[in-house]
Amino acid sequence: MITSKELRNKWLTFYEGKGHVNIGAVSLIGDGSTGVMFNVAGMQPLMPYLLGQPHPAGRRLCNVQGCVRTVDIDSVGDATHFTFFEMMGNWSLGDYFKKEKTAWSFELLTEVFGLDKDKICSTVFAGNESAPRDYETAELLVKLGIKRENIFYLDKSNNWWELEGTVGTPCGPDNEWFYPLTDRECGRKPCDINCPCGRYVEIGNDVYMQYKKTEGGYVPLENKNVDTGFGLDRMLAFLNGLTDGYKTDLFSGAIACLERLSGKRYDGGGDAQKAMRIIADHTRTAVMLIGDVNGILPSNTGAGYILRRLMRRAIRYCRALGVAGSAMQEVAKVFIEEVYGEAYPLLPEKEGYILEEIARETERFEATLEKGTKEFEKTVAGIERKNEFMSKQDPAYRKETKIGGKAAFKLYDTYGFPLELTVEMAAERGYTVDEAGFAEAFKEHQEKSHAAVAAGEFKGGLADTSAATTRLHTATHLLNAALKKVLSPDVNQKGSNITPERLRFDFNFARAMTPEEIAAVEDLVNEKIKEDIPVVFEEMPYERAREEGIVGVFDSKYGDVVKTYSIGNFSREMCGGPHAARTGELGHFKIVKEQSSASGVRRIKAVLE
Ligand code: ALA
Repeated sequence: MITSKELRNKWLTFYEGKGHVNIGAVSLIGDGSTGVMFNVAGMQPLMPYLLGQPHPAGRRLCNVQGCVRTVDIDSVGDATHFTFFEMMGNWSLGDYFKKEKTAWSFELLTEVFGLDKDKICSTVFAGNESAPRDYETAELLVKLGIKRENIFYLDKSNNWWELEGTVGTPCGPDNEWFYPLTDRECGRKPCDINCPCGRYVEIGNDVYMQYKKTEGGYVPLENKNVDTGFGLDRMLAFLNGLTDGYKTDLFSGAIACLERLSGKRYDGGGDAQKAMRIIADHTRTAVMLIGDVNGILPSNTGAGYILRRLMRRAIRYCRALGVAGSAMQEVAKVFIEEVYGEAYPLLPEKEGYILEEIARETERFEATLEKGTKEFEKTVAGIERKNEFMSKQDPAYRKETKIGGKAAFKLYDTYGFPLELTVEMAAERGYTVDEAGFAEAFKEHQEKSHAAVAAGEFKGGLADTSAATTRLHTATHLLNAALKKVLSPDVNQKGSNITPERLRFDFNFARAMTPEEIAAVEDLVNEKIKEDIPVVFEEMPYERAREEGIVGVFDSKYGDVVKTYSIGNFSREMCGGPHAARTGELGHFKIVKEQSSASGVRRIKAVLE
């Protein structure tokens, strides 16, 4: 049995022994330069160096780098797919090339990991108009002792590595390493690396990164680089003779935790096993993304949306497994405390924060999951009824198998179901979703709010009157009052702008707020939210409002009679509304930014989660 920790160490020690510097891992969140949201390969952060810029640590580098790939998210639930994994890598930046690299990969596999050279298979690039057939690598492999019949020439779809959908990035032909999981052939002839039975697994690859992808094709790079990637998660399973990646020490704790919570057995297979895999995988990725140095939170856009998708999918599977509530947190704790804490020291440091955010997203989604699921079932039942009715009228009637875009949008907008989740639920019932219709409904909704803003329909800095904006508006009043309490009674509103995503509030104050002051303001607002105070509307003469000390925005013009909103004794403001009925509707208040806006004016951006 080899542990994940031993495997990480063996990799690094081996390549350090060959003159490589361990450069450590970087953030999982992409820097935007490649158009990819997450780091999908160990080479991604090294792009400028592979293109020729000198690296401060030299020309031989190695590390173990976390990666997030969500393209195969639908496959997660089987034995081998993960959305987060660690890539063991090493690089030559214009230093050594094929001769050394083939020899070292061979040495590592046979001597360090004890693989049988007679069973090792390798694939090399067959060649095309961009790059020649890789005889050179094939001959080097034969010289090392790999059987000629175990070397396969494959085309670009197999033996060429590049970042999908990008230009200006380094790429090249690769040499992939395969090994049989068992000596027993499946019966098909030949039962080799191309056999669909999956007897052979790919354990890693060496990319000979010597081209740059441009709009016009592939151009040779000045440097001939090597970019090696071996997936730790898969390799760990493979070296331990496991065909199930969830049986390694990376996952055994999480699976045991889910077994304990659900009372179900992982080895029983079926739906429970699939659910446990999905929950474990997605929770691990969520922990890594929230706990990253550039940590993100679930949201409705960009990377945050992908995180939300993962988390909500896991939450739905928790429900299917019968472990709603804190299950995801429990699993996250196992990953942080028992598995990754040592290799990723930021995780234990941020543990409280990560668990809290998981709890929050769980709470948020569980609040609507049940109702949304019922809504979904109602939609399906409606289609089924119609199909039945129409079939009776006309036996040739073609049954509807698509869920409408509007229905999918309602699930998204009202119940927080990511589209992909609805698509998945639909597929489980033999339905598809009208995704174009969804996009249309989405756009229509956006246009409506934009048009309203353009028409100046909404006052008081409100972009629209959606429930989200209304809640943020009430939060703005709480914030205004809290700032007066925490900083100074002289603090006054200087500006306000609210979108469905966030509030922005400008106020007079001479210096930056300290972290303690920010926390105190957040706490006070959240306390008032917890108290679930009714928001009371009252119209009164302007003079009376002034006398009662009701806050107004000084440069605003008020009529003789003004509208006021009071939140207990805590906040009273002249304001046109609209507001939430009670503070309890607001959720959790968080300041995401505090910065200077103008001289003597500070600006806060805050969200409700
Ligand atoms: N960049 C190569 C990969 O991701 C090593 O597989």
